[in-house]
Amino acid sequence: MSIRIIVKDPDPVLREVAKEVTKFNSNLKKLLKDMAETMYDAEGVGLAAPQIGISKRVIVVDVGDENGLVEMVNPVILEREGEQIGPEGCLSIPNLNGEVLRADRIVVQGQNSDGETFQLEATGFFARAFQHEIDHLNGVLFTDIALNTYDISDRVKKGGEQ
Ligand code: CO
Repeated sequence: MSIRIIVKDPDPVLREVAKEVTKFNSNLKKLLKDMAETMYDAEGVGLAAPQIGISKRVIVVDVGDENGLVEMVNPVILEREGEQIGPEGCLSIPNLNGEVLRADRIVVQGQNSDGETFQLEATGFFARAFQHEIDHLNGVLFTDIALNTYDISDRVKKGGEQ
């Protein structure tokens, strides 16, 4: 495993529509391990492959609750319900946070590292993290859709960045 470098806005890879994963091999397993290690090292709660310069539809999420680490390949949101407004940050956009409107509950479907399809239901902050990461796969950053943004460079880092 290795910690990868997190690319920062305005790196163009963050604006690409990431490609579907079709090969479920050892390279994908290594990518997922490296993404998790990189996310934990940066004290983030989620990471998408484009954030380490790899334009593939792969995300990892761990918001520090009982759901633990979720690795998801080719994620798709099947259902959205309700609304929530809350603060977000991004490991690719240091020093900015912003309030973002998200669905409060989602059902997301994706594949594991072996290519097996699974679904999960997420609510609250867990659901927010998935929506943020899946946006990354479509070249969307939270600052594109935030209701506002504010500088946090003078604050102690909270570790809520995605
Ligand atoms: Co992000």
